[in-house]
Amino acid sequence: MNVPLSIADYERLAEERLESGPWAYLTGGSGDEWTLRENRAAFARWTFRPRVLCDVSEISTATTVLGTRIEIPVVVAPVAYQQLYHPDGECATARGAAAAGTGIAVSTFSTRSHEEIASASPGVLQWCQLYVFQDRGVTHEHLVEVAAAGCRAVVLTVDTPRLAQRERDLRVGFEIPSDLPLPYARAAIGDAPKNPADQFALLDASVSWRDLEWIAGESNLPIVLKGVVTAEDARLAVEHGAAAIIVSNHGGRQLDGVPATLDALPEVAEAVAGRVEVYLDGGIRRGTDVAKALALGARAVLAGRGPVFGLAAAGEDGVRHVLELLRDELTLALCLLGCTSPDELTRGHIQRTAT
Ligand SMILES: Cc1cc2nc3c(=O)[nH]c(=O)nc-3n(C[C@H](O)[C@H](O)[C@H](O)COP(=O)(O)O)c2cc1C
Repeated sequence: MNVPLSIADYERLAEERLESGPWAYLTGGSGDEWTLRENRAAFARWTFRPRVLCDVSEISTATTVLGTRIEIPVVVAPVAYQQLYHPDGECATARGAAAAGTGIAVSTFSTRSHEEIASASPGVLQWCQLYVFQDRGVTHEHLVEVAAAGCRAVVLTVDTPRLAQRERDLRVGFEIPSDLPLPYARAAIGDAPKNPADQFALLDASVSWRDLEWIAGESNLPIVLKGVVTAEDARLAVEHGAAAIIVSNHGGRQLDGVPATLDALPEVAEAVAGRVEVYLDGGIRRGTDVAKALALGARAVLAGRGPVFGLAAAGEDGVRHVLELLRDELTLALCLLGCTSPDELTRGHIQRTAT
């Protein structure tokens, strides 16, 4: 292939390079993968209503998330075990994100520590994605390190009290290599090679709204709730002091049958009514997808598999290029919609055309 022109091109390159186990884990969803497909299909149900003659000679894609400026309204989503995709793992992802002017949410199942990431990419915006282990001592240590390493937020993932059944992983017998460094999970897991479901069984399924106070007390960082898809939970999130919400269904990897995140976004944005920032993830593959999410009320999006396709295909440069493709496609979309910045996108710029 010549120079990749789209995330779909990077997906093909990643498939060529990866073994069947990591590929299944990266691309698979849960159950019948209905929600996985819906995340993509939902973008096609909305069409644009461009405005013309708007002076679009100067366009900026920059915005802020929780007060930090980023050059594109796209942050790299937390994706576990990134050394499976490149020897430098999350360090390469962070360098690619920084080169594109944005940041990275680092999984609890990261193969690199926040400190290693900060030295590989000084000043990069880092958020800490948190899973709470039954052994709260392990989570306490995690949060202590995170605060010391200059993380700007804790992203508590709330849609994974247990791991859903992911049949692609089971069919190929995917297991996590026992020598994978897991600085924030190894103390709970020990040395045994295990499949993801065994590792996630060590998480605390009793976590409830009350625990937000415990997490806030441990870290002092703003808390972002990842995995909210209803107005009811969005209102509870605001009442319990969340600083932001990520409308997410874990990339179609948890409860199969929940709606596409683009379909859940309007009810969450309406319930929140501007009181906290709302982000979306799930199925972002094009700059036009970003534009549609912003028009429906998201301040920014997170992208999971897309940047990891870049990581697997070309390391740090691949991550950077994937994010630059999203930036260039978004710039073009803004221009042709008659907008000069993400803030100018409104509900009036899109319409739902299919059910
Ligand atoms: C391989 C893989 C691993 C993931 N690991 C985590 C994780 O450790 N923590 C988490 O909160 N979400 C995790 N996610 C979910 C992503 O953060 C994100 O919600 C999802 O990938 C967004 O959909 P997209 O991949 O279509 O962009 C993972 C997703 C993938 C594909």
